Amino acid sequence: MAHLRLAVLASGRGSNLQALLDASEAGQMNASVVVVISDKEKAQALERARKHGISAVWVNPRDYRGKEDFEAVLIEVIKGHKVDLILLAGFMRILSSYFVRQAGIPILNIHPSLLPAFPGLNAQKQAIDYGVRYSGCTVHFVDEGVDSGPIILQAVVPVFPDDSEETLAMRILVEEHKLYPQAVQLLSEGRIRCAGRKVIISGEGEVDG
Ligand code: GAR
Repeated sequence: MAHLRLAVLASGRGSNLQALLDASEAGQMNASVVVVISDKEKAQALERARKHGISAVWVNPRDYRGKEDFEAVLIEVIKGHKVDLILLAGFMRILSSYFVRQAGIPILNIHPSLLPAFPGLNAQKQAIDYGVRYSGCTVHFVDEGVDSGPIILQAVVPVFPDDSEETLAMRILVEEHKLYPQAVQLLSEGRIRCAGRKVIISGEGEVDG
């Protein structure tokens, strides 16, 4: 079982980052976050990384002329930390196909809806406005589209009639914090492979010993 070195890209609060740090420290995930990168100087995610003695890097998009120049720096930082896996955790920028190709390692994203429903921004609001009775979260591979890559894991939560965007977001977040470390653990165990769009998880559904 390989111990994975993770780069986490986050723009804000970083509660998913925190869940990953906690799972790693508790030995529930055979992986360590080695660098956190943000496009926002004041992101709480950077603060969380520093508290854990983890390299915290702010890359200011305004310092670069174009998206590729900005993304080239992200790649440079990631490569400098000998990372096995890139995790997007509330990174609120769409990465280009240049980034996906240059990375050369798997990239995962967590999204607060049951994809392919409600991709893009404000997924929880989209779910409430649409009137679905269930929503949830999805961990998926990042491909060259928006929230469109092969789905690794999903978790479902109910949507209640009196839900606000915030109450639904919090209910989904509880599941996100369990799902992301689980997906990383499956990868570290070498149990995940892609067959076209489908993700095959070996041992799934088998009864333990
Ligand atoms: C999470 O709900 C994550 O799924 C979502 O942003 C939040 C980040 O929270 N991501 C997206 O909407 C990506 N399109 P966090 O900073 O506390 O982890």
